[in-house]
Amino acid sequence: MSSPQALKTVTLGIETSCDETALALIETRGRAAFECRVIASLVHSQAKLHSAYGGVYPSLAKREHGKNLVPLFHKLLIESADLIEMREELNDEALNKSIETFRAEIAPQNPELFESFAAAKFLSRIPKIDRIAVTEGPGLEPALWVGINFARMLGDLWKIPVTAVNHMEGHIVGSLLPSDTTNGVWQKLYAAPLPAVALLISGGHTQLVKVSMLGSYSNVGETAYEIIGETHDDAVGEAFDKAARLLGLPYPGGPHLSILASQARAAGIEAPLKLPRPMINSKDLNFSFSGLKTAVLYAVRKAPKDSTGNLDENWKNGLAREFEDAVKETLDSKLRSAIEKIGAKSVIIGGGVSANGTLRAAFEKTAHEYGIPIFLPSRHISGDNALMIALAGAMDSGTKKSGNLRAQGTKRLSV
Ligand code: KG4
Ligand code: ZN
Repeated sequence: MSSPQALKTVTLGIETSCDETALALIETRGRAAFECRVIASLVHSQAKLHSAYGGVYPSLAKREHGKNLVPLFHKLLIESADLIEMREELNDEALNKSIETFRAEIAPQNPELFESFAAAKFLSRIPKIDRIAVTEGPGLEPALWVGINFARMLGDLWKIPVTAVNHMEGHIVGSLLPSDTTNGVWQKLYAAPLPAVALLISGGHTQLVKVSMLGSYSNVGETAYEIIGETHDDAVGEAFDKAARLLGLPYPGGPHLSILASQARAAGIEAPLKLPRPMINSKDLNFSFSGLKTAVLYAVRKAPKDSTGNLDENWKNGLAREFEDAVKETLDSKLRSAIEKIGAKSVIIGGGVSANGTLRAAFEKTAHEYGIPIFLPSRHISGDNALMIALAGAMDSGTKKSGNLRAQGTKRLSV
């Protein structure tokens, strides 16, 4: 008989906390040396739809998740067909009976989801999936509920246990996966020496976290995660997006602003003025980015413009460069303080903003100077995705009964 160490588990990850509808299937084995292979991972971004509102519009996000989840799941199963065995086939009666039990509860809340679920004949073929991992928070509650309701219906129909995952833990463990390629090749997760400092930088969060344990989200007495610093106001991604908007760039503006900053560096365009480095000298590990955005607002008002009122290109690029440098110096300075404060043996960077090349290079330099390893997410999983949620769910030691699941918009990392 094979030992439990060798047991393989297939986990489905579901992520709907913001404006990305994402699903992934992974297979994992082992505990001490955790190994994973990515079977399939799909992300359907709604960013273009939300750009008209200059930010994520919650009720639109909810409706889009509801419309997209079931078709995306069908696509995921088709892509996974070679690597996933089929378990059994449900007859129509069993399928309809199970779906009807949810009509009263789910159809009024998520009509698009319920209708597409009820019409999906492909759900009668049950693949060998051992666990469902779904984001319970933090995030937009109406959006989170769609993923949770999908997990509940699927878990009930296919008799699969459901695990609730903290989105921020997803960003931490996602950075420990060497590659996000869906070629089915087994890979060992990086074993980050602990305690680690995790710097989580996204559109909704800016946090420094002391990581004392990994893969133990629930069922553990000890504290695995401790938030040791966070933003008092805007998240860093939000600051990027707001500054980018003031510069006339489309939403989400972070990547666009970063391109202008790189162009300025390449062309030797200097900053037209000095922006603040908020709280860089405060003794704590907290951040504040709203002042930086306000400084950009005032700067833009006084900026040179052409005859049609557009910002002067060189000025704009130079300001983007200065903005990125201000963010970089602030984050890097707090990261250094956090490493020293907890005696960190490694650094983990997570969240959408970690796609930024200038920031990545600065954090790598810092870790190198302290002589500790750094783990950055591969580019495809720096933004929101379900691969990281599946991974966090697979590393978890406990499962929640699907009836107990609920969206937790302000869920914090702690356990
Ligand atoms: O983690 P994420 O995908 O979603 C949230 O959970 O918020 O992060 C999205 C954020 C957006 O604010 C986006 O502008 C920012 O990450 N972002 C960037 C870059 N790529 C994404 N910010 C700066 N530079 C980038 N290259
Ligand atoms: Zn995120």
